[in-house]
Amino acid sequence: MSVKYVPVQWNRAKWGYDAALMVGIVVFLWIFLYVAPDALNHERPINPPIRNARAFGACAFVMLTIILCIGPLARLDARFLGLLYNRRHFGVMTAAVALTHAYFVLGWYFAFFQGASRWETVLFANTSYAQILGFPFEALGIFALICLLILAATSHDFWLKFLTAPVWKAVHFLIYPAYAAVVGHVALGAFQSRDNDTMALIFSAGALVVVALHLAAAMKERGRDPVADGVDWVAVCAASEIAEGRARIAILPSGDRVAVFRHEGQLSAISNACAHQNGPLGEGRILDCLVTCPWHGFQYDVRTGRSPAPFTEKVPTYNLRVDGGRVLVDPRANPPGTPADPVPVPQQEAMP
Ligand code: HEM
Ligand code: FES
Repeated sequence: MSVKYVPVQWNRAKWGYDAALMVGIVVFLWIFLYVAPDALNHERPINPPIRNARAFGACAFVMLTIILCIGPLARLDARFLGLLYNRRHFGVMTAAVALTHAYFVLGWYFAFFQGASRWETVLFANTSYAQILGFPFEALGIFALICLLILAATSHDFWLKFLTAPVWKAVHFLIYPAYAAVVGHVALGAFQSRDNDTMALIFSAGALVVVALHLAAAMKERGRDPVADGVDWVAVCAASEIAEGRARIAILPSGDRVAVFRHEGQLSAISNACAHQNGPLGEGRILDCLVTCPWHGFQYDVRTGRSPAPFTEKVPTYNLRVDGGRVLVDPRANPPGTPADPVPVPQQEAMP
């Protein structure tokens, strides 16, 4: 944490995380290729490049599905918060697995189409772009792969600092069009001549789970939407609803999110967006007045919005008051790093 970008350092937990991911990928590919090869059944005769392409394609699809489930799961249930850790490495590995899928597919295309124009054959071997059934699904795969490669290439902290957090975050929303393209790619292409429904069921179930979890998380947040109270102040929740050491997140009329923390019987509010990569500070825990961002571990004093020395990161603070047991927040953010007086939780509201 400093004025320059600081890459998140490697540590034992990261090595362990990446090793577990690698083992997961190898086990998936092994099951797919050797333990349950029937899942690969196809009406067309299958050759080794296509067999490998399908295994890596299926693996990339499953990885992408898991990545997209982690966010809403963590919003729905705090027990999943640990999964937020190191999602960038998960994403980079997904891009690598998808690239391997494309590598095998292209090898197969190139075996058929020799000569200078063979790259073009991927896009123009089938030109039925105007129809849905028979649409050249490779185009969707290429689009998704380009998105995944952009996300992987810009995942480094340098790019976050260089692009600024809002632009970086906007770029990383590409993951949704990429996933939609992959679903189309699989639905239009891979299922066309399949005589085995196992994979179709797995892929459809995966996509449905992603959609359902996002809807459930959105509905949960909508249920928590603040109710305007008076002209300026925004109601968050009852003071008693905030557990000691934790926060409640509220959405302000501006669309910004504020995290209201309870620590040692006092309430403090800071922006929910971490200065590092907009991680959800309200999902972090407090220790000694410092909340730790669940994404990469930056810390902030919840009373001042400042990182502990020698670090210099700051997030905006918000002023609070409690009225009739309800916590109210002034939606006008204080400049980042401005101390805001903590508000005592009313005695009768103290948690048991
Ligand atoms: C350059 C980009 C890509 C090209 C040219 C491409 C091409 C193909 C082709 C030709 C197939 C059908 C193979 C067959 O069964 O005969 C296929 C299947 C598949 N692709 Fe791609 N693809 C690309 C990118 C992607 C990406 C980025 C993903 C996922 C993240 C993906 C996931 C899949 C899946 C899941 C299948 C079905 C595997 C199965 O049938 O079990 N593809 N792709
Ligand atoms: S987003 Fe990286 S530490 Fe908060």
